[in-house]
Amino acid sequence: MKDVLFTIATQRQLTDTVCEIRLRGDTAAITRPGQFVNLKLDGLYLRRPLSVCDLEGDTLTLIYKVVGQGTALLRRMTPGQTISVLTGLGNGYDTALSGSKPLLIGGGVGIPPLYLLAKRLREEGKAVSAVLGFNTAREVFYEENFRALGCAVAVTTADGSYGIRGFVTDALPADYTHVYTCGPEPMLRAVYRRVVTGGSFSFEKRMGCGFGACMGCSCKTITGYKRICKEGPVLQKEDILWED
Ligand SMILES: Cc1cc2nc3c(=O)[nH]c(=O)nc-3n(C[C@H](O)[C@H](O)[C@H](O)COP(=O)(O)OP(=O)(O)OC[C@H]3O[C@@H](n4cnc5c(N)ncnc54)[C@H](O)[C@@H]3O)c2cc1C
Ligand code: FES
Repeated sequence: MKDVLFTIATQRQLTDTVCEIRLRGDTAAITRPGQFVNLKLDGLYLRRPLSVCDLEGDTLTLIYKVVGQGTALLRRMTPGQTISVLTGLGNGYDTALSGSKPLLIGGGVGIPPLYLLAKRLREEGKAVSAVLGFNTAREVFYEENFRALGCAVAVTTADGSYGIRGFVTDALPADYTHVYTCGPEPMLRAVYRRVVTGGSFSFEKRMGCGFGACMGCSCKTITGYKRICKEGPVLQKEDILWED
């Protein structure tokens, strides 16, 4: 973990509520796709966690949905301003588990961490399929970015206004070797029920410290309690214990 002062390079709107921000700074502590960073925003005590979406040298890309005070503050920030960011948090996805035909399944703002994962898997020569789920056509983002990496992409919308009508589970290919997924918990549960191979599931639990000190993000797994910020956010399918 490293506390780094990043400078905002660019900030742009992808949809009505989702933005992409590029930050420049020391990215050395980020070692795996699926890790996250924790942003200190002016006037807020708790940092706000966001997944690493892309990494190119000293440039870190994040994608966020404006849902409350912190993300609204972030949206108002402009290029040249600086942000304190804890980097290299969480375990991330293990590409060694992928097999030759990994399947990436993302829902809404669960999609960002899958982008860097797709990039790494393509660099390793894997045949990557991606299923990206949204509520409606106006919310779709990054479809072309995944295609540009050479992934086979299916987009679903719940209202059928774009791509395949329905949920991500309505668009799963027949043949895959491992599943990597991130999204809202109901989606993760539905994917869990359908997946016939091993799977790496990323959980976006509400967090306190974000680096393992407060236990605020603990959850029960088959092998005992785990801190989602430290031993997660990625849990393997066989370790997941759903609590109602
Ligand atoms: C490991 C991790 C990675 C994440 N990656 C991304 C990402 O790449 N892009 C993205 O848009 N969001 C991501 N999130 C969720 C993001 O952290 C929250 O949306 C953000 O902290 C909200 O801050 P806020 O001050 O705007 O909203 P708040 O005022 O804190 O809350 C506004 C609303 O958002 C809900 N909310 C807040 N935090 C979470 C959370 N962790 N999970 C679910 N609902 C929450 C609250 O219940 C409330 O309804 C991630 C969360 C975690 C734990
Ligand atoms: S958020 Fe503090 S231990 Fe995970």
